[in-house]
Amino acid sequence: MNFSLLTLSSNAVHSHKSDVLVVLIPEGLKPARGPFADWLQRHLKSGDFNTQVGFHLTAFDAPGWSAKRVCVVGVGAGSAAQVRQALSTAWGVLKVAKPEALSVWMPESNPPMLGAVMQALADATYVFTTTKPSAKARNLKRVTLAMPDASKHKIEFARQQALIEGVEWAKEWGNRPANHATPAMLAKAAQGLAKHRRMRCQVLGPKEVNKLGMGSFAAVAQASAEPLRFIVLNYNGAAKSQAPVVLVGKGITFDTGGISLKPGAAMDEMKFDMCGAASVLGTFLALAKLQPAINVVGLIPACENMPDGRALKPGDVVTSMSGQTIEILNTDAEGRLILCDALTYAKRFKPSAVIDIATLTGACVIALGHVRSGMYASDDALAQALEAAGEAAHDLCWRMPLDEAYAEGLKSNFADVANVADRAAGSVTAAKFLQRFATDFPWAHLDIAGTAWKSGATKGATGRPVGLLLQYLLAQTQNNEH
Ligand code: BES
Ligand code: MN
Ligand code: ZN
Repeated sequence: MNFSLLTLSSNAVHSHKSDVLVVLIPEGLKPARGPFADWLQRHLKSGDFNTQVGFHLTAFDAPGWSAKRVCVVGVGAGSAAQVRQALSTAWGVLKVAKPEALSVWMPESNPPMLGAVMQALADATYVFTTTKPSAKARNLKRVTLAMPDASKHKIEFARQQALIEGVEWAKEWGNRPANHATPAMLAKAAQGLAKHRRMRCQVLGPKEVNKLGMGSFAAVAQASAEPLRFIVLNYNGAAKSQAPVVLVGKGITFDTGGISLKPGAAMDEMKFDMCGAASVLGTFLALAKLQPAINVVGLIPACENMPDGRALKPGDVVTSMSGQTIEILNTDAEGRLILCDALTYAKRFKPSAVIDIATLTGACVIALGHVRSGMYASDDALAQALEAAGEAAHDLCWRMPLDEAYAEGLKSNFADVANVADRAAGSVTAAKFLQRFATDFPWAHLDIAGTAWKSGATKGATGRPVGLLLQYLLAQTQNNEH
């Protein structure tokens, strides 16, 4: 979608020409004197309009307005969530007109509504067409964002545009069925990023991975006809001497559970088991667009988790790249088995922080539902930075505990560690497993099992947590400049 910025004062709203115009009205708005202020006063007084979220007045060919269709909508106090809700209501009304172009006027606000408006429109109009071309690509092609002083918001505008591209790319790869998003295809997509400035990509196959000693990752991949890939992305926006942030994304392109086979119901949704990887790709695309002053490494172990004659069996013991042996009691706890080797690999970058992102446990969905991602951190400063980034980007997370007592159930008589404990606190014990491999650097783990996709009628990837990750990375560049 093509967004553009326009300066338009409140007393010019009436005379703005467009096919469709949406006017956002927060409570207490005092527009500059003019026909629009008079119009608003009259309608507020008569009770025909109020500023409650989603309350709207629509008109077609209304006298005094230059736009063909006008939708004036209340946004309450004007918070991001309220703006989102109001716009999705307005879009529900306006989409019947199938507009190609849309203008949205918003007053100057603090914090600016701009980001919320852009995200809401992008979200409401996104369509996945790769394997369903008949689901016509969105009609809406151009959006003009009009406000009293647009020049003040140029940086925020560029940031939001890059974020939308990143989120939509993450959705694209998340939504692709497993036969259209194999490890090799994911690697190809990552390699495509290398055409951008300051971006590099290296892809390792089974031979290289075995040579590195990634016995745990290789074991998960061994029963699949699709060869594994280990993707290494580099974005170098700062001096070489500056330690990078490493993002590690779980890239299970399909999770059958392996020999510990999953039940059939909703198993199709396990195509989303690479949404962590997709969020890394999306974040890198946004970095490519914004070119911020920071160094970032992206690591994606990608493979399928399949059952066959060569498959891992419960009880098998494998040796991870760290040297620790792992007893695999449940082959469906495969995410941690591929991530642990990627975490060991991350050490070589002497990172300032490592963040892994994974659709890791059904237990996290039970704990936090679909609202907040689970967040674990070995470092308080990193935890606080991620919490703040989530709040600012409206892509929330919630810190979970890492008490040593939770690791009790991972003890094994046959290896250094078992890959599962009992059912209790399943998201926490998974994090405790990972923590054993996240030594030597500040580490955080985001369990996005509940937030990376939606089920039911609106089934599809959300693009989360690209918003949180980008916000966190850009905040680091500010720290760098001080
Ligand atoms: N990819 C799944 C986690 C998952 C399940 C995410 C359902 C979203 C919805 C992961 O690989 C898995 O299967 N985890 C197991 C772990 C268990 C065997 C300890 C789970 O959560 O059941
Ligand atoms: Mn699994
Ligand atoms: Zn999985």
